Amino acid sequence: MWFPIVVNAFMSIAAYYFSIKLIPKVKDKFIQANLFGIDKSKKIGVKIPESIGVVTGCIFLITMFLFIPVSFGNGDHKEKFPHEFVELIVALLSICCMLLLGFADDVLDLRWRHKLLLPTIASLPLLMVYYINFNTTTIVIPKPFRGLFGVILDIGIFYYVYMGMLAVFCTNAINILAGINGLEVGQSIVIAISIIIFNLIELSGPLWKAHQFSLYFLLPYCATSLALLKYNWYPSRIFVGDTFCYFSGMTFAVVGILGHFSKTTLLFFIPQVFNFLFSVPQLFRFIECPRHRLPMFNAETNQLDCSLVKFHYSKLGILGKFFIKLFKFLRLIKWQEKDGFITTNNFTLINLVLLYLGPMHEAKLTTILILLQIFCTCLAFTIRYPLASFFYDV
Ligand code: UD1
Ligand code: MG
Repeated sequence: MWFPIVVNAFMSIAAYYFSIKLIPKVKDKFIQANLFGIDKSKKIGVKIPESIGVVTGCIFLITMFLFIPVSFGNGDHKEKFPHEFVELIVALLSICCMLLLGFADDVLDLRWRHKLLLPTIASLPLLMVYYINFNTTTIVIPKPFRGLFGVILDIGIFYYVYMGMLAVFCTNAINILAGINGLEVGQSIVIAISIIIFNLIELSGPLWKAHQFSLYFLLPYCATSLALLKYNWYPSRIFVGDTFCYFSGMTFAVVGILGHFSKTTLLFFIPQVFNFLFSVPQLFRFIECPRHRLPMFNAETNQLDCSLVKFHYSKLGILGKFFIKLFKFLRLIKWQEKDGFITTNNFTLINLVLLYLGPMHEAKLTTILILLQIFCTCLAFTIRYPLASFFYDV
């Protein structure tokens, strides 16, 4: 059990050093290819190479390809041939596909509806292998609801819809909790390490194979992302791009789905789920959504403050009015009214932190958000272990 994991860990360390070396070498090429962004929270607007996630994504794939002979090289896997091997290949296919689509998004700046469509398409091979290998579409009902639904419920096709939506959610949820140096990679690494810890705990359980499988992916993922973080941390010398967000989300969805622990995976997304729900009125345009919702930079103080959105109250639809009242009641937004116009902070978790803690330096803001992510991981483990026994027979 341990041999392939240890080899994988060593290969991941090599991948880390390779990424560290490669990123500075290629970053000017990205600028030459017009792949750059301007850091909106700095005094001088220098060109920062964008989509460097594609570099570490490729190193991740190469590491995985080189690792295949280690996990499947010895002959005794032959009788199991199609299943486990195909699972690995298809998982890589889905991740690779998402990397390509993410890169396309960075280059072509796709529309919002494509952002929903792309992960769905990229998850199809995964759903197919799930169909062929497992096709279990039953869910275990939590104890309090068993009187109503029984112990096990077969939800059929909806299970596939759920898995497809998981991929869409994971990819986009990371992408919209973004805009300050180091946050996209930082949160993804915390999620990855959380899943790794969970896998290590479960490695001694009956489903150890699924967790070993997950570790094969997450160790190189973590290593390459750490290299990315080194350059993306404040002050960023590179941007990771949507490429990285899509690649990360898909990796988490893949290990969660094929490892049969998608609910636990989602537990590690608490800040992202909150940020998504909070963003819903803007994402679905019930309330105006500016192209960028990242915090506002104050060049004089060198600090970040809430970014604002301005709209006409009377022009809002019923849902728009409902959400803004609800959020105001929940104290998630601060609103100012002038001449019929309302100005509030943009509906993101980043702005909410600024609203409560006041303006602050960018690096401090990223650190707070990452600490929050770590705190939520602790919460997730409490829900997963002590509390889950209350709802399930674990
Ligand atoms: C998502 C968010 C958007 C946010 C953006 C920031 C939604 C619906 N969309 O859009 O509100 O503003 O991410 O990434 O919530 N940038 C920085 N500093 C950073 C990272 C990014 O200034 O640390 C800026 C750069 O100009 C960079 C750009 O953001 O070029 C990248 O934005 P992009 O990833 O294309 O935005 P979206 O993912 O579409
Ligand atoms: Mg983005």
